[in-house]
Amino acid sequence: MTIPFRYRRLGYVALNVTDLARSTTFYRDLVGLDVSDATEQRVALRCARDHHAVLLYPAKAPGLKRIGFELESSADLAKARTYLSEQGYAIEDVSADELKDLRTVAALRFRLPDSGLCIEYFVQMMHMATPFEARLTRIERLGHVVINTSSFDTMLGAFRDQLGFKVSDFVPGFAAFLRAWPNPLHHSLAVLTGPDHHLNHINFMVSDIDDIGRAMNRMKAANVEIVFGPGRHQPSESIFLYFLDPDGMTVEYSFGMECFPEDGAREARLLEPAPKTLDTWGSVPTPAFGKIGQIEQGIEA
Ligand SMILES: [Fe+2]
Repeated sequence: MTIPFRYRRLGYVALNVTDLARSTTFYRDLVGLDVSDATEQRVALRCARDHHAVLLYPAKAPGLKRIGFELESSADLAKARTYLSEQGYAIEDVSADELKDLRTVAALRFRLPDSGLCIEYFVQMMHMATPFEARLTRIERLGHVVINTSSFDTMLGAFRDQLGFKVSDFVPGFAAFLRAWPNPLHHSLAVLTGPDHHLNHINFMVSDIDDIGRAMNRMKAANVEIVFGPGRHQPSESIFLYFLDPDGMTVEYSFGMECFPEDGAREARLLEPAPKTLDTWGSVPTPAFGKIGQIEQGIEA
């Protein structure tokens, strides 16, 4: 369906971590992000000019705090606010202090039905004075976030039918790969069926296939658990490697992804729910893959 606002991109992911210093070290020294600034309340890490692609918050349990999508303009944000209210979503305003802290001009938040997953729409994140310099890995961007849900149809319905995401590929009853139209990337978000609602993984796209191989050896040397890959996904054709962060949350590097035109894009393919759909090279995920990361719930009214 057509919605009255346009996405620019997946902007950032906010993670809850149980040891802020330990996770900051991991995402800086092993994943290769740069710290933009750090306080006791949160650490902002970047992989581009933008102030943050990842926010780490100290918490009792590891998990997904929220996902931030950038819209194209302030006018889009205003239209989104009206539209979401009409769709029955309760809008959570972001305070002036928090906007300032997050180096963002304007934002709103809302929660999905059933899962309680918090989505933020924002416009304009501060560009840092110096470019991101890849020390370890040529990270192009935060690529996507994947969620497991026990309400697959409800979550897919919200993203596709209310929030304007387009389905790029579909594995019946198991997975939907969603692009934040008109952003061209095959998926900025994916929804997987699961026993409950939790984070499956976050992804960083790299610009050189050598970064996948180097990362595998770097992680092994640091005793970081590799939980899937290296391999190649059939849906996005990406070459991938998955590993665990210090809390056991799954992180992915991937190389390559199909891009879609704004108009005239191909229809979503219906993919067979078979292991080779996940990896055409034949590797299988370990039991720890995509297990840790509860979805933070809002304060009950
Ligand atoms: Fe992925």
